[in-house]
Amino acid sequence: MVNTAQRAGILEGETTMKNQEIDAAWKYHNGTKHSDQSIRANRHYLDWQNQPMPFKIYTQLDPIPLPQHLSSSGMPALQSLAAPGAPQAQVALKSQLLAETLFLSAGITKRRSYPGGEILFRAAACTGALYHIDLYLVCGDLDSLDAGVYQFSPQDFSLCRLRAGDHRSVLAEASGDERSIVNAPCVIVSASTFWRNAWKYQSRAYRHCYWDNGTILANLLAAAAARKIPAKLVLGFVDAAVNELLGFDSRREAPLSLIGLGHASPRRMDLSPPVIEPATFETKPLSRTEVDYPAMRAMHEASSLESAEEVKTWREGAEREESGTKAEGKGIKDKGAGSHLIPLQPLRDEELPRDSIEEVIMRRGSTREFARESITLAQLSTMLDRVTRGIEADFLGPSASSLNDIYLIVHAVEDLPAGAYVYRRRERAVELLKEGDFRRDAGYLGLGQEIPADASVNVYFLADLNRALGRFGNRGYRAAQLEAAIMGGKIYLAAYAQRLGASGLTFFDDDVTDFFSPDAAGKSVMFLIAVGKSAKRKDLNVI
Ligand SMILES: Cc1cc2nc3c(=O)[nH]c(=O)nc-3n(C[C@H](O)[C@H](O)[C@H](O)COP(=O)(O)O)c2cc1C
Repeated sequence: MVNTAQRAGILEGETTMKNQEIDAAWKYHNGTKHSDQSIRANRHYLDWQNQPMPFKIYTQLDPIPLPQHLSSSGMPALQSLAAPGAPQAQVALKSQLLAETLFLSAGITKRRSYPGGEILFRAAACTGALYHIDLYLVCGDLDSLDAGVYQFSPQDFSLCRLRAGDHRSVLAEASGDERSIVNAPCVIVSASTFWRNAWKYQSRAYRHCYWDNGTILANLLAAAAARKIPAKLVLGFVDAAVNELLGFDSRREAPLSLIGLGHASPRRMDLSPPVIEPATFETKPLSRTEVDYPAMRAMHEASSLESAEEVKTWREGAEREESGTKAEGKGIKDKGAGSHLIPLQPLRDEELPRDSIEEVIMRRGSTREFARESITLAQLSTMLDRVTRGIEADFLGPSASSLNDIYLIVHAVEDLPAGAYVYRRRERAVELLKEGDFRRDAGYLGLGQEIPADASVNVYFLADLNRALGRFGNRGYRAAQLEAAIMGGKIYLAAYAQRLGASGLTFFDDDVTDFFSPDAAGKSVMFLIAVGKSAKRKDLNVI
């Protein structure tokens, strides 16, 4: 019998292990850094006549409408952000709950007109509001949804069926029999069409695949937790097998992550993967022409896993990571933790704002202008507390281990001197690295924008890429970016839950590392988000 890896053209014993050749990740990362000089030298301009559509529209598939009436879980957002990925009391996945989860992750929540047209804003933040990430479902029979492979179409809140029948075993096999995929009634696959974001951001858009998927997944995990639906992020899978299932043009599109959603026990699916007929699905052209960015493709290919065996070995990296973290953790302080530790002081349960996750997602936007006002230490602490509770993911192991460290530039937080800080995970405390008013520096580091200078605090996620790539090969780059972005997405939600504002930002890579050095020496910036109080200016300034 021909298995998925063989169908994808890779025969047993022939694994090339490109993923281990980590120069590729360094080449991509270094080649897409922003610096003052790179920005000045870049001659790229936006060809508005050729702007890609922010939707992938299948021309020959009939939309299947999703339920219009969506219910609220009523769970306070800050509680859903604290909930584990595998809740104790679990609820069966029904199509109504699935529709709600899709809406809260990638649905259209706001429409704004501007002189050139209309922007349909989504539940999660996205670089440039270009919305290049699509969600696909691979499910067995649900109460009112037949087993199949579907694309979620936010433009008309519907599903397009690509394939009929239960194809979950293809993903089970592609994931190296990862339990959460094997058991899931539904798997959600996130994917990017590169051009939809590269039109503006060129090759740096490969980072944005993970950033913009991360904010969607932060919403998805919170929405699922509020509905008591287990959800686990899976990054280990055979890329070509997923491409084939979804009929992707692998030069232009890429699957980014899987989420095993819900728990079917005992395993219900057919063990033998169905025969997959090769398929291409006609879609509307995104724009007049498309530009190929080979650096994105090269990075994606170099971080692809090629067989179920390779996936299993890859995942063992997480287990090694986990035991290493535990050994390091025994009775010792965080490396370098000094004497200026200020413990987090999160709000007590009875003090927490009660706004539901649904209200918060509907209210969320990116703050366009911050008032230079203070937030409280309790508000900042509550955000950091929620963000550092761990993500249920195959590359992170069971405890709250992380590939990223959190650094802060504090401008205006009550009871916290302005300055640069690092968050010490084990001590659950922030450590002052240097005191001072760094508004000008923060503005510069955030690409010379006002948002990071005016916010109350800038939260940076930095990864030790040598460590991540050492454990996970090039795919460690995907993991570090995605983990940081999910945490960034959680910051968005935790800020808006406390009636604060937030905005993701881009940055001058090496200058940020230098700013936080020596503590941050050798680390690379994965994600930046500014938090503070909105100045309530209503203008739209999409950067
Ligand atoms: C990772 C990330 C980086 C972003 N970078 C910037 C930025 O540098 N400047 C800015 O004004 N907005 C930035 N944004 C905000 C987006 O422009 C915003 O999310 C998008 O316009 C959609 O609007 P919404 O977040 O209000 O729904 C960023 C958002 C994300 C998720």
